[in-house]
Amino acid sequence: MRLVAIPNTDLAVSAICLGTANLGSGVDAEASFALLDAYLERGGNFLDTAQVYANWLPIEESVSEKTIGRWLKSRGHRERVVLATKGGHPNLKTMHVPRLSPKEVASDLEGSLRRLGVERIDLYWLHRDDPARPAGEVIEMLHGFTAAGKIRYYGCSNWRAARIVEAQAYAKAHGLAGFVGDQMMWSLAAPEPAALSDKTMVPMDQALWRYHRETGLAAIPYSSQAGGWLQKAAAGGARARPAYDTADNHARLAAAQRLAAETGWTLTQIALGYLLSQPFVTVPIVGCKSLAQLDDSLSAAEVRLTGDQVRSLNLGR
Ligand SMILES: NC(=O)c1ccc[n+]([C@@H]2O[C@H](COP(=O)([O-])OP(=O)(O)OC[C@H]3O[C@@H](n4cnc5c(N)ncnc54)[C@H](OP(=O)(O)O)[C@@H]3O)[C@@H](O)[C@H]2O)c1
Repeated sequence: MRLVAIPNTDLAVSAICLGTANLGSGVDAEASFALLDAYLERGGNFLDTAQVYANWLPIEESVSEKTIGRWLKSRGHRERVVLATKGGHPNLKTMHVPRLSPKEVASDLEGSLRRLGVERIDLYWLHRDDPARPAGEVIEMLHGFTAAGKIRYYGCSNWRAARIVEAQAYAKAHGLAGFVGDQMMWSLAAPEPAALSDKTMVPMDQALWRYHRETGLAAIPYSSQAGGWLQKAAAGGARARPAYDTADNHARLAAAQRLAAETGWTLTQIALGYLLSQPFVTVPIVGCKSLAQLDDSLSAAEVRLTGDQVRSLNLGR
């Protein structure tokens, strides 16, 4: 698979990142190892996990990280992967209470290192923001983790544009690295914000998009396939993902189907190709549950849409 350089780092990641929220839970341990093996065989090297995955289920804690840790140990593949995990997620029962104090994040990070069985995380994400906390404090905390050799680079997830501006300005003024990536909710089909069950998730919006275009900050979008909404809607089952079942998204689906007929691309290739063809580095995270979904999703890695094709899909944006 094509490798992409993340600006301001020495990270070269595969064009598509594998999301692992389901590993060890929605996908059992054996199938999880098979997915990870297949992803690497097809040239993938970029894994996205988090301390909180899948703590919403009554099973062992942080099972995604543990599954990856067990797989890394059994395969000896640490050097072959760019390992990204996240901390600072609120407790699931009190989602309105941020958890970004240095003590909380340091404890999350130590747990992640232990579960993954590694000495250092390649890219550490803050899973959520705490808008009441000065962004400079957050950058100093993250810088402390890099200086201590616990992480190589850091990024933000679910932060609004104005807060990223504040954090990056602090980093620049103090000669620190700052965020090297931003992980937001973004796909060709846009979710209806009011229908999202978790209001702390931050979808791509115009301010964020403009910020990425102006600064070149890498975007690493999650839910990049809208949970398969396009394919499900095309097959007549759109209601499976109600947050996406909007008139704008049906118009985008119709435009994607026209483009599919013209080019021979699949809906998956168009949905991920749309993200891969933005005017800044974009590495979509895909959440595949089977080898067939993995193959289908990775088939988009080389797809490039022209500017006109992207505009033809940008309906309602
Ligand atoms: N930073 C954050 O706050 C955050 C939040 C959410 C997720 N994430 C990360 O992003 C990853 C991906 O998120 P996501 O699971 O929402 O992404 P997604 O790729 O948009 O959705 C995954 C779902 O789409 C369907 N699917 C996958 N591949 C498909 C294909 N080729 N064709 C048709 N349908 C397909 C499957 O649904 P079915 O099972 O119904 O077939 C699968 O469960 C997670 O694993 C996690 O690493 C981060």
